[in-house]
Amino acid sequence: MLHNFFSIFVQSIYLSHMSVNTSSKLNETVSWVGKWTFVLAAAGSAVGLGNIWGFPYKAGTEGGGAFVLIYLLCILAVGLPIMMAEIMIGRRARKSPVNAMKAAAIDSGQTSKWQAVGWGGLVSGILILSFYSVIAGICLNYILIAANPTPDISSLEQFNIVTSSPSRLMFWHSVFIALNIMIISAGVISGIERMVRLLMPMLFILMMVMVVNAMINGDFARGLSFLFAPDFSEVDATTFLRAMGQAFFSLSLGMGSIMCYGSYMPQEENIFKTSLTVAGLDTLIAILAGLAIFPIIFAYGLEPGAGPGLVFVSLLSAFVDMPLGNIVGPAFFALLSIAALSSAISLLEPSVAYFEEEKIVSRFSAALTLGLFAWVIGIGSVLSFNDWSDISFIGDLNFLDSIDYLANQFLMPIGGMMVAIFAGWFLKPDLALDEFSGIHLVIFNIWRFFIKYISPVLVAAVFIYQLVS
Ligand code: PHE
Repeated sequence: MLHNFFSIFVQSIYLSHMSVNTSSKLNETVSWVGKWTFVLAAAGSAVGLGNIWGFPYKAGTEGGGAFVLIYLLCILAVGLPIMMAEIMIGRRARKSPVNAMKAAAIDSGQTSKWQAVGWGGLVSGILILSFYSVIAGICLNYILIAANPTPDISSLEQFNIVTSSPSRLMFWHSVFIALNIMIISAGVISGIERMVRLLMPMLFILMMVMVVNAMINGDFARGLSFLFAPDFSEVDATTFLRAMGQAFFSLSLGMGSIMCYGSYMPQEENIFKTSLTVAGLDTLIAILAGLAIFPIIFAYGLEPGAGPGLVFVSLLSAFVDMPLGNIVGPAFFALLSIAALSSAISLLEPSVAYFEEEKIVSRFSAALTLGLFAWVIGIGSVLSFNDWSDISFIGDLNFLDSIDYLANQFLMPIGGMMVAIFAGWFLKPDLALDEFSGIHLVIFNIWRFFIKYISPVLVAAVFIYQLVS
């Protein structure tokens, strides 16, 4: 794994020459230039706000090492088979998720209505982007706040100052959406590929700096045992379901991001190996995030199960007291912002790719229009921190939480389950085998078994659980 990461890192630094790769078979289709770009882009999509505070926090409250173990099982049993299916469907069509699903269905003699799975993904992508951008905007603002903390103000007061101001939240939300529109409209190679080659090594270096900082300034031994000592007494049915949900969201599955990035994957790359690397990197970064955060939380006597406030309130107060905190703090929030940006571009790309491919509008107009659309929906999430904080939309959830619920707990699980059902039961096995070229037959058969029986049933279990709980 580390060897792989090292190669990616070296490649990203030295490979700056960009050109569009058009092999004879792929005329007019775009393909990543660098050998490792798919891995970097997919890991960029997968590693996001969800990983950096979501995973450590859940690991902490759900039995530490026991949760980590169950999480790994879910990645292997559900995440990996669905990720392979998404990449395979995307790459064989070399089209956006809507048309890739349609092509796979038609080529297998099935109804073209399977494209609905692609459409569901486009809707979830825009919905997730709308609130993701508001939270990422807060991270951007915190780079400045941590560099120059206001004296005599507690970190809780500071958080309230930030979130109670709609104009401040709107400003940073707008900056974040504008960055996304710029990267996406620059194109797959000059925008996304160039950005992930720059951002992902930065993310890894910053993460290492944060882990070293935790070794120096934190209670590292306690952080380690908190994350890894398996406490099976905390494990029950919901631990499995939480670990599944986290694995699923964390790998960006069920909404077309990975399928879309797969459509740019060069033909000679091995889908099984790259999927394994992406899932491995996603897990590695989540664990490193835990090692960067918890030792600090313990050393400063803070509460590890603080939820959303963990990074913005607890960590900020630790940075204020820490030697060189005005450098380490901004570095941490820069890390969060980078992780969020490389995830956000993968939320916008599937729908922009569709508009461009159907020649409805140019890539720039599509990025601008869809980005603005997400920006407008995001206003509701901005207001849910202040003016609309008492207004409920779905059940007793405010606007941000409602959109989050709709996309993450409804659209994404259904999308992932439908991909599994389609790939396991409706897609012609020969088509899959062709696209997985070079795959060992034993691995192919294991994949078939999982995608047919195990993954859909497990996703259905999570989905039903979320509906009844
Ligand atoms: N995987 C991202 C995270 O962990 C979120 C995400 C979901 C990004 C779906 C893209 C698509 O934060």
